[in-house]
Amino acid sequence: MELRLAFIGFGNVARAFARILTHRESQLARDYDLRFRTTAIATARHGCITSSDGIDLLKAVDCLESGRLLAELDDSLSLPDSAVLIECCNADILFETTPLNPVSAEPATSHIRSALTRGIHIVTANKGPIAFAYRELKSLASQRGASFRFEGTVMDGTPVFNLVESCLPGARVLGFSGVLNSTTNLILTGMEAGRSFQESLAEAQRRGIAEADADYDIDGWDAAVKTVALANVLMDSDSRPSDVDREGIRGIKLEDLKSATAAGIAVRLVARGKQTSNGVKLTVAPEKVPVASVLGSVRGTSNALVLETDLMGEIAIVETDPGVEQTAYALLSDMISIRTGMRAV
Ligand SMILES: NC(=O)c1ccc[n+]([C@@H]2O[C@H](COP(=O)([O-])OP(=O)(O)OC[C@H]3O[C@@H](n4cnc5c(N)ncnc54)[C@H](OP(=O)(O)O)[C@@H]3O)[C@@H](O)[C@H]2O)c1
Repeated sequence: MELRLAFIGFGNVARAFARILTHRESQLARDYDLRFRTTAIATARHGCITSSDGIDLLKAVDCLESGRLLAELDDSLSLPDSAVLIECCNADILFETTPLNPVSAEPATSHIRSALTRGIHIVTANKGPIAFAYRELKSLASQRGASFRFEGTVMDGTPVFNLVESCLPGARVLGFSGVLNSTTNLILTGMEAGRSFQESLAEAQRRGIAEADADYDIDGWDAAVKTVALANVLMDSDSRPSDVDREGIRGIKLEDLKSATAAGIAVRLVARGKQTSNGVKLTVAPEKVPVASVLGSVRGTSNALVLETDLMGEIAIVETDPGVEQTAYALLSDMISIRTGMRAV
């Protein structure tokens, strides 16, 4: 079966995904009867194009990485914007990978709403819509018979939502604690090793893991949005990022980290969710944790999440040194899940 794919956002994640897709084309056809044709791509500054014959993904990657406009690709037709793209892309799956907007989750939420309304399956790595509109979008997807998948929004491609959905049926998640933001963890562990805040931040930006606006990482917004996404999906909360008691890592000094390290203590930006008698309580703040604990042991871009469940006790998930390719894998695994779901009907 051939699936028509459209992309809104063609940055680090989408381009890494485009490379995986191209290199795995024959495996996808053989193992999942999944062939694909890219019918549209939208960006903010590099144009917005459609092609009924199909866009060559590697040529599109090369175009953006050499600073050219998508309209330079052969046989493509320019469109005014993403809204028009959704109307006319004729896609089966839309990949939404625009940057996080932690204040309103727009325009990503509108893109997803508009596509779901047309019955287009959604795969997104953008956590904003999960934190601001999960219930609405999930319900819309179910009304329109479309899938709404977002494994890449927390811990990149490491199974978190899929783990609970597929492997913990019948169990309830009562709470969680996690180191969920790679950029701040790279900065904190870089500072533990004596590097400056700015040097470590520059490293995160060089690796393509920092948010387009890195203040969203440093001030704890990215972690707060992930905290809300976990609570909304896994704990049936209907929280918003403003409900999170949030503190970032701006105030942490090199000397604080040096003395903590000498005492066997690690400072980590910890996200917590807890079911209480007053609803779900959510926090993000730097915490001192033992170096030997799950959260204290994650270094660099690594992430960890400890889920507290009623029937399975605590389950710890660790993701070691992820890069943008891991998030790209999440898009692939979500796409395969959609295809598998189609075959099961
Ligand atoms: N990078 C990671 O490791 C990672 C990990 C997990 C989740 N995520 C999430 O994945 C998403 C994408 O991350 P990324 O690193 O790929 O971001 P990025 O490199 O900054 O790329 C963002 C893309 O979105 C486009 N864009 C921005 N505003 C748009 C709009 N209004 N309409 C259409 N296109 C628009 C940009 O266009 P231009 O190219 O013209 O600027 C660019 O192509 C973000 O939500 C991020 O939080 C990223």
